Amino acid sequence: MGKVISKELVTREQIQEMCRRVGREISRDYQGKDLILIAVLKGAVVFLSDLMREIDVPLTIDFMSVSSYSGTKSSGVVKIIKDIDQDIAGKDVLIVEDVVDTGLTLRHLKKLLATRGPASIRLCTAFDKPDCRVVDVDVDYIGMSIPNEFVVGYGLDYKQLYRQLPYVAVLADDGKD
Ligand code: IMP
Ligand code: MG
Repeated sequence: MGKVISKELVTREQIQEMCRRVGREISRDYQGKDLILIAVLKGAVVFLSDLMREIDVPLTIDFMSVSSYSGTKSSGVVKIIKDIDQDIAGKDVLIVEDVVDTGLTLRHLKKLLATRGPASIRLCTAFDKPDCRVVDVDVDYIGMSIPNEFVVGYGLDYKQLYRQLPYVAVLADDGKD
């Protein structure tokens, strides 16, 4: 069965508004700090690029790439495919994700980066699916909560496609064989 974009869930305008609001919150909280935004590849790239332009305190950016869970999902162990390029000791780290679903990816990344001696470490996501949570993870900045549906667009993919959509949409079966 094929897939089709079935309904627009979050509009371009809502995304813009959400980036402005989260950017304001981060700017307020990180005054005088040594902020580094770490985006989780590839999905968070679109959000990072919008969000960083709404933040008016000095910051640097870096990227990490992780594979899906190795072994069982509940182990929550994600494999690092690409690590960040810099030392984060003493820095104020903010991990930027596209969507939090089970929470396993962010929980693992936070634990891992926390071992490297940052001054602080917080989490930020464009979208949150609170109904899908398997492990507890405190997400400090949330753009928008969305229902438990598979969505694409604004960085989110299905088989690597649809990331470039400027809105978020629900992906559904097309009903054809
Ligand atoms: P978690 O570890 O289950 O929280 O997984 C988060 C990751 O799963 C995200 O970074 C996405 O790459 C992927 N993901 C979760 N839900 C969706 C979705 O609805 N569409 C596309 N990717 C998703
Ligand atoms: Mg992701």
